[in-house]
Amino acid sequence: MIKVEHLKKTFSTGKDSEFHAIKDVSFEVEQGEIYGIIGLSGAGKSTLVRCLNRLEEPTSGKIYIDDVEITSLKKKELLDMRKDMGMIFQNFNLFAQKTVSQNIAYPLEISKMKKEDIGKRVDELLEFVGLSDKKNSYPAEISGGQKQRVAIARALATNPQILLSDEGTSALDPENTKAVMDLLQRTVKTFGTTIILITHQMEVAKEICDRIAVMEDGLIIEENTVEELFARPKKDRTKAFIERLQGKPLGDEILQGDYEGLVVRLRFDKTNYNKPLLSHIILDKGVEVNIIAGSVQQLNKAGTGYLIIELQGTSEQNQDVLKTLQDDNVQVEVIA
Ligand SMILES: Nc1ncnc2c1ncn2[C@@H]1O[C@H](COP(=O)(O)OP(=O)(O)O)[C@@H](O)[C@H]1O
Ligand SMILES: [Mg+2]
Repeated sequence: MIKVEHLKKTFSTGKDSEFHAIKDVSFEVEQGEIYGIIGLSGAGKSTLVRCLNRLEEPTSGKIYIDDVEITSLKKKELLDMRKDMGMIFQNFNLFAQKTVSQNIAYPLEISKMKKEDIGKRVDELLEFVGLSDKKNSYPAEISGGQKQRVAIARALATNPQILLSDEGTSALDPENTKAVMDLLQRTVKTFGTTIILITHQMEVAKEICDRIAVMEDGLIIEENTVEELFARPKKDRTKAFIERLQGKPLGDEILQGDYEGLVVRLRFDKTNYNKPLLSHIILDKGVEVNIIAGSVQQLNKAGTGYLIIELQGTSEQNQDVLKTLQDDNVQVEVIA
């Protein structure tokens, strides 16, 4: 478990000036959880994650890993603690002059593992990330997605409990992004690793995170399960991230349409997004439905989405339909 309490990081930016990159951040992450931290460039995400393994010294606040307070660790204990935390980056940070195998072996050599054990462990890791056939290749000879899989194998070499990913998929095309995300999910399933996934891409966070924290100006402005965050975003910044993913929200342009019926926005969640609610309205309630717009998002373990429809029944029929939808836990909002 990771627990961060009132973390602050201030950089000195000149003789009399300082910059508060992390203002006051607290959160907890359970073992085996994928915790996303999403925010625009400059929000403080990298600084935060670098404080977790003390690549950056926090200015104040406390960080606990399984009840060990790591901000007070001495150098030697800190080095031991770092073995328990792997990290991957946007630009992979592989050694260009080392082969894939040698890159993965590096942390094992540092930790003074026996040579024959290193070979065995590297082979296991290569198999886990699906790159056994690339063991003698150099980084320049493999694709970006493959490089990141090598970096993940290297990060997992010492069996860390925690994996930190700082924009680990940001330099990849959609196909390689998917492959890396699948690998991260498989890592959690296989080893029970806890992952902190920093990204500016909501499309990445929504696919694999259990919970997401939204960061802005050195603060976590909102935190929730991925389903709740999509279903009921509270802050404008969060809405902006979601809207960017779903395309511009629908509202104004729809009001300009000429509709005779009742225009409503329906919001679905994991309990109802895959039910045949529309055919129920049409067939059982006998009300004609005109679909105006909609989108369904596949989230980590669930779906969510919205639909804007025009109900063309009598006003009693329409009210009856809305009530039935609400009974099915659909959030209903009358637009026009
Ligand atoms: N060593 C540093 N000295 C001064 N300012 C820094 C330093 N590192 C980061 N910052 C500033 O802190 C803010 C947060 O940076 P960063 O954590 O990299 O954000 P993100 O990863 O969300 O893009 C930025 O405004 C950045 O310029
Ligand atoms: Mg960053």
